[in-house]
Amino acid sequence: DNVRKPFVAGNWKMNGNLALVAEFNQKLAGLKAKAEVVVCAPSLLLHAFETDSFSIGTQNVSHLDNGAHTGELSVDLLKEAGCSYAIVGHSERREDQGESSELVALKAKKCVAAGIVPIICVGEPLDVREAGEVEAFVGEQLDALVDKMSIEELSKTVIAYEPIWAIGTGKTASPEQAQEVHEFIRTYFSKVDATLAQSLRILYGGSVKPDNAETLFAQKDVDGGLIGGASLKAEDFISICQAAN
Ligand code: G3P
Repeated sequence: DNVRKPFVAGNWKMNGNLALVAEFNQKLAGLKAKAEVVVCAPSLLLHAFETDSFSIGTQNVSHLDNGAHTGELSVDLLKEAGCSYAIVGHSERREDQGESSELVALKAKKCVAAGIVPIICVGEPLDVREAGEVEAFVGEQLDALVDKMSIEELSKTVIAYEPIWAIGTGKTASPEQAQEVHEFIRTYFSKVDATLAQSLRILYGGSVKPDNAETLFAQKDVDGGLIGGASLKAEDFISICQAAN
């Protein structure tokens, strides 16, 4: 899978502050990693990053154009703030804000139009896994993307598979469980376009830590990770970034 550059993104969620940004600026300066490295912080912190060794991203975007949409942040504004990436469709937003797969697809499309790479999250809850319906569930989340986006647009995205039962629980998917779903996702896209499927980066997210990152990232269809809790500690995040090669 060396056609795909490894990729590690941190998702700070609603955590962090200016002091943590300053620590990252200092500790990640001159970071040597084969992976492309991104930190997705709360949008109000983005201005304080001084980055040459990693890129910055946001955790959500509006699917709408600039205008009368109180409290929203447009892709244009985020782009101007230095965002090159945006997480869209995180399961916490699908749950807390009731975001549908269709809305997530519109957000992803909006990002691509503005030159922001969307990191599109998919993944099943525990009851779906226990019922043996992971592929049907994730497949439906992917259907919405293929429905709204062209092959060209899809080629400018990154997919993150985050099984909900593994997020923040310390229960990581086994490397085999991760690989199985990643392979399903790549095969799904191969039916849309073979070149797209080969070049699409698919990240694993859910309790990735320095001690399990390497085995997860070594799986054939796992191209890196989307890191929550461990992305809040500079040392842990750095070692995870270096595990992707
Ligand atoms: O987006 C990353 C995330 O949901 C995984 O969180 O804390 O399990 O690494 P965590």
